Order: sequence, then structure tokens, then C-alpha cells
Amino acid sequence: MTGSPTLAEIVTRRHSTRMFLPDRPVPIELLNECLALAMKAPSNSNVQPWRLFLATGARRDKLAAALAAEARAHPPVTMGLPDSFLPLRRELGALVYGSMGIARDDAEGRWTARLRNFEFFYPPVAGVVCMHRDLGPADAVAVGMFVQTLLLALTERGLDSCVQVSTTLYPDLVREQLDIPEELDLLCGLCIGYADPAFPANSLTIPRNDVAQNVVLVD
Ligand SMILES: Cc1cc2nc3c(=O)[nH]c(=O)nc-3n(C[C@H](O)[C@H](O)[C@H](O)COP(=O)(O)O)c2cc1C
Repeated sequence: MTGSPTLAEIVTRRHSTRMFLPDRPVPIELLNECLALAMKAPSNSNVQPWRLFLATGARRDKLAAALAAEARAHPPVTMGLPDSFLPLRRELGALVYGSMGIARDDAEGRWTARLRNFEFFYPPVAGVVCMHRDLGPADAVAVGMFVQTLLLALTERGLDSCVQVSTTLYPDLVREQLDIPEELDLLCGLCIGYADPAFPANSLTIPRNDVAQNVVLVD
């Protein structure tokens, strides 16, 4: 392929990475470029509600170790979903765990794989996305726009990522480790780095619904 990738190519190329190369650093100038682009996301009243806390080096190691220890001591409760969404979660689990060679009834294998969430899948940059606790759903939409813009900018530069809810399941621990002010709620975790190409789950393409299942065109 020659020339710059199109937006469609970048959107299609972005996917969740669940094993990073821990020793391949993220060039700070690339990260800064991506963050500056993400800041262009729209928001209600231009309040720019996204707040990001990213850790590298020893700080990241300490956070990941503390989270993994906490998850081992107090295993996370899987978040509930309305029944109609459960088949999609099951399908995702079958694809992700299946690609790792973990059978549906292999509880120990699943737990070992799940624990990697709490170590952020070993990226050089890991953190959380936050928002002021008194803001609302419309502002959370804007935070999502910021995050997706960031992910696409990272993808365009050959970087990989994963958004995670798992790491926000222990909010007090993360808050303490990253000095997050009390008035911010944790929305999701974020991992940034270079994917380990040898890890099969990193090559998955997760299917999507047909557009008509999610979009109603009224005329
Ligand atoms: C808000 C949010 C939370 C997520 N939480 C997790 C998580 O805790 N662990 C994980 O492995 N993937 C997590 N993901 C990744 C999704 O599973 C993934 O985006 C989805 O299955 C589609 O796959 P793709 O990103 O590879 O296209 C999360 C994604 C989002 C947007």
C-alpha cells in the first residue's frame, strides 16, 4: 500500500490489543501528537470533560502490581448486562478465549487470562479516563469521542491500544495510585503500546451487528 491510510482503513485497523510488548516504549512525541488531536473532540458547551491519567515506568508497574494483587485477593464480580446483550458477550468470550486456546469450561484458564486485564495487558503506558462526577451522560458521550479520536490517532501511527472497564472495578486503589482527585469518576482504563504479534488474540476481528439492528432510519 502506498500513501497515507484513509480514515476507513484506520477505523478498520483499530482493534483491542490484549498483549503488549512491555519493553517497546511509546515515543512521547507520538503520544503527544495523538493527545493533541484527541483534544479536538466535540463536547457540550465545549467543557472538554475528559480527564486522563497515564502512568509509565515504575509508576505503571506499581499500579499494575497493586491491581493484580487486589483482583487475586478480591476477585471482580462480572458486571451485569440486560439479557438481550448477553449473547454478544458470550460470542466475544468464545472468540477471545478460543483464540487463546482456552475452553469454555476451563475456569482456571479463563481466570488466568482475565487477570491480565488488571495488569493492563503489560503495555508501556497505562491509565484511566475520568470525568467530573457532577457531569452527565451527554458529557460521557464527549469523553467517548475523545477516546475514539485518540485510539484512531494512535492506530494511524502504528500504535495499539485497549479500552478497559476492568481496571475501574477497583476505583479506590486506582485513585490512590494515580493521585486522582475525589471529584473525578473513573470511566474506563486505557492501555497504549505496541501489540505482541505472536499473541493470537491480537489478530482477532470482532464482528459487528448489521447497521439496521442498531440504527433506525425514519422517513
Ligand atoms: C468502554 C469499554 C470497556 C471495555 N472493557 C474491556 C475490558 O475490561 N477488557 C477487555 O479485554 N476488553 C475491553 N473492551 C474492549 C472490547 O471488548 C472491544 O472493544 C470489543 O469487543 C470490540 O472489539 P475491537 O475493539 O477489537 O474492535 C472494552 C471496550 C470499551 C469501549
